[in-house]
Amino acid sequence: MTAGPAVEVTGLTKVFEKGRRTIWQRLRREPDTREKFVAVKGIDLRVERGEIFGVLGPNGAGKTTTLRMLATLLEPTSGDVRILGIDVKTHPREVRANLGAMLSGERSLYWKLTARENLEYFAALYHVPPKEATARIESALVAVKLADRADDYVERYSTGMRQRLALARALLPDPPLVILDEPTVGLDPQSARDLRDRVRELKRQGRTVLLTTHYMEEADQLCDRIAIIDHGVIVALDTPAALKRRIRAGEVVTLEIALTGDDAALLARLGNAASIARSERHNGTLAVTAHCASARDFVPAAFDAARSEGATIQHVEVVPVSLEDVFISLTGRALRE
Ligand SMILES: Nc1ncnc2c1ncn2[C@@H]1O[C@H](COP(=O)(O)OP(=O)(O)O)[C@@H](O)[C@H]1O
Ligand SMILES: [Mg+2]
Repeated sequence: MTAGPAVEVTGLTKVFEKGRRTIWQRLRREPDTREKFVAVKGIDLRVERGEIFGVLGPNGAGKTTTLRMLATLLEPTSGDVRILGIDVKTHPREVRANLGAMLSGERSLYWKLTARENLEYFAALYHVPPKEATARIESALVAVKLADRADDYVERYSTGMRQRLALARALLPDPPLVILDEPTVGLDPQSARDLRDRVRELKRQGRTVLLTTHYMEEADQLCDRIAIIDHGVIVALDTPAALKRRIRAGEVVTLEIALTGDDAALLARLGNAASIARSERHNGTLAVTAHCASARDFVPAAFDAARSEGATIQHVEVVPVSLEDVFISLTGRALRE
């Protein structure tokens, strides 16, 4: 019934107006003078069927806004979105029938009901054919590993279990495309790992997964391809390995330097021995991220440089190239901040 890639987006744009327009301004047909804010700036994106595709970016980058437009929950200001070849503008119902979404800030689960009762309720709400509902609920519970706790009240569930149940709810339409907005946010490391395993399982079942995250390790481990988004613009799009290859450095060294004087002279000296990707001053401490060919050569040179500037290196760490470095090299800022 459907053809084309899982997701095809061209020139997708969302402009928000800041603040509220009062009823009087509307009634008097006063011109709308509110300040405009472009949250998503004409992005192009193509997600192939069967892949786990990640949209990685810091808070406020436009991830949720983008997903809400794909899921037909928010009208784009301009641009085209096709989900499995179906146009969201002309056929929103068909799109909704083919995707399962788990978005943040949704009124999601009833704590006074059991997991199974929650799914029965949402199956009815989503028009799952009654004949299929029981089987769909069972397979959704199995898919998120909650089958043995299905008749417990949700109020007894841990945060991780609730998140898995929210994922089960998204699976009720048996969707070929699953959209997840920051699925592991707020979970402890074990629950987050567990949820990532469930997401991999969705791929093994032949579904396409489009997710957002601001955790670079998560994007790296989980996604076949990643779009890095910043201020509503896709700044890079590739496999995690290819993105990391863009950092033409063997190693990344982070330094914490105690320094009373001026940064500039020290940074200039460090810059002779490595490429300084980022430096930031917090009171008396200068944090530096340097890309170098070899830490064995750079670290002694950094100690020499610090000594001659009257500074003390308090902490050195040599780390492999990560998506964080890719983000820093593209934007000049750290993803974590
Ligand atoms: N309904 C809205 N009205 C006005 N501004 C909004 C609205 N929703 C989001 N924004 C703004 O758009 C930007 C992108 O938000 P969002 O898509 O939620 O980012 P992310 O999910 O990447 O953290 C933010 O600056 C946010 O404040
Ligand atoms: Mg968000």
